[in-house]
Amino acid sequence: MKIILGPASKELGEKTAKLANLETVPVVHKTFPDGESYIRLESTVQNDHVAIVQTTSPPQDSKIMQLAFLADAAKRNGASKVTAVVPYLGYARQDKTFLQGEGISIETVARMLNAAGVDALVTVNIHAENALKKFPFPAKTLSAIPLLAEYFVQKGCKKAFALAPDKGAMYIAEQAQAVLGGEAGHLDKQRDRHTGQTSQTGKGLNVKGQTVIIFDDIISTGGTIVGAAEILQEQGAARIFTACVHPLLIGDAEKRILDAGVEEIVGTDSVPSHVSKVSLAPLIAKALKAQKSG
Ligand code: R5P
Repeated sequence: MKIILGPASKELGEKTAKLANLETVPVVHKTFPDGESYIRLESTVQNDHVAIVQTTSPPQDSKIMQLAFLADAAKRNGASKVTAVVPYLGYARQDKTFLQGEGISIETVARMLNAAGVDALVTVNIHAENALKKFPFPAKTLSAIPLLAEYFVQKGCKKAFALAPDKGAMYIAEQAQAVLGGEAGHLDKQRDRHTGQTSQTGKGLNVKGQTVIIFDDIISTGGTIVGAAEILQEQGAARIFTACVHPLLIGDAEKRILDAGVEEIVGTDSVPSHVSKVSLAPLIAKALKAQKSG
């Protein structure tokens, strides 16, 4: 197996290759003046199973196209199998039709990637695992939550309260709790499907005087974490942190979250930024090693 270093995740691809002891395939990438992407594989992939490491965080559309071009280039140059390793899978939140007239964006993306040459996919903390069942190839999701929780153990926050900002994320809080060894719970979140506005409530939580870490899969505008932090402040939490797998941090999300009393935002290199304090490389390397020997 070889690792193709997708331009959106070059550093993560290199770290993963080192840990998994795999050869890398460098990629030449440029953007034409009109915005189109150009890619070229710089070494041979003839008869190789290749893993393309390429996240699809904003700007999602161009990164998805680059991934498709890389898969096509790999197949045209003789790769025997293409596994797409996509830490943040763009469009995964549109995994069903919520309102009449909509499509299912994530299924369109999966079919496009399959047509381009992708034979299998590995992602990390996809919003809803059920979406993968409709993919036209084997696809699985890994969880980076234990790694994020371990960061807080190292920081001295053992026994912190693991909080999910909504019921759907309770499995995330439970995975964190297994590492932290404290309590876990969730808030309730309601979303207006037309305006996108959300509201949260929190009942029966024992957070008074506690260090609380709000765990989520994605932080986008920061609204969910700000809302959760406000409830935690009202309920007397002593210290508040937040951790997410995919720190999109759109606009002034970071400032809003810190202004709401959160001490630190911790993310992974699924979406590379200054809050990416936890690397996904060990998680992905382990999954690729298992594929190689399986
Ligand atoms: C949605 O249910 C997700 O798990 C996240 O809670 C959501 O995407 C975060 O978005 P925002 O940061 O814009 O509130």
